[in-house]
Amino acid sequence: RRAHICVVGSLNMDVVVEAPRQPRMGETLLGKNVHFIPGGKGANQAVAAARLGAKTSMIGLVGNDPFGDSLLTSLRENGVEAASVKAVTGATGVASILLAERDNCIIVVPGANAHLTPEYLEANRDRIEEADVVLLQLEIPLETVAAAAHLAKKLGKRVILNPAPAQDLPEELLRDVDVITPNFSELERLSSISAVEEGLEVAMSHLAALGAVRVVTTLGQEGAALRVPGKGVVRIPAQKVKVVDTTGAGDAFNAGLACSLAEEKDWIEAVDFAVKTASLAVTRLGAQAGMPSREEVESYFLSQESSSRH
Ligand code: RIB
Ligand code: NA
Repeated sequence: RRAHICVVGSLNMDVVVEAPRQPRMGETLLGKNVHFIPGGKGANQAVAAARLGAKTSMIGLVGNDPFGDSLLTSLRENGVEAASVKAVTGATGVASILLAERDNCIIVVPGANAHLTPEYLEANRDRIEEADVVLLQLEIPLETVAAAAHLAKKLGKRVILNPAPAQDLPEELLRDVDVITPNFSELERLSSISAVEEGLEVAMSHLAALGAVRVVTTLGQEGAALRVPGKGVVRIPAQKVKVVDTTGAGDAFNAGLACSLAEEKDWIEAVDFAVKTASLAVTRLGAQAGMPSREEVESYFLSQESSSRH
């Protein structure tokens, strides 16, 4: 049976400027290129899940401007069911992304995403009823994230929360979540524990105890860490890849994890698939544009594994 995922979240147009480095305060630099690439954590996760073969729907908002039209087109072209993505009066969310040779930085202007209310969610609850797994991030109002988690939990769905961008979360929300997927700094913030000093295990156990059943921490090029109750923390390494653009790596990871869990894969296998999806996503420019298909993930790592054996 095909996994069915519903993403409740943001859609942004990513305005990606490539430059050799970040400008210093007050400085003007010449950039190399500018790209307009569909993004937003919610839409990225939805497109990635669809490319990985899951039946995927999205609940979200764009503005009634050309960016909104392109974001909707991108969802549909990628096979995401977008009946619950509406255009409202005002501007579409925009992420201004500076892609420098050694790092990147992002400013997100939420626009329409800020108007995604619990009422709108309720009016579109069919999408959640149809799904096996509900995937959430933090680029829409927190009360809507909490309402989505609560409704999904009540309906017996699996709830995955990608707590990005970092912010403090109410414990009621954590109790409605089955899996939480922070990166290292989000883990430290949510657990109020320095993972550098006290270790991943302490921080992850602490966060798990706040209400989330499972904690999976993403560790960039080091892969991910999974907390297995009673067994401690298991690390799932990533293979070395040539990094082009890390924007959306976390989104690829969450989509991979959601698909695997919806397919009832075991935890280690699910996290491993998520790491591979993210590893392949960072080898390409653009968040949504760089999301791999299931065939690409499977064949890429199969060829890597066989070449490392010879
Ligand atoms: O996670 C990556 C996304 O974060 C980008 O696509 C950008 O829109 C920002 O919201
Ligand atoms: Na990418």
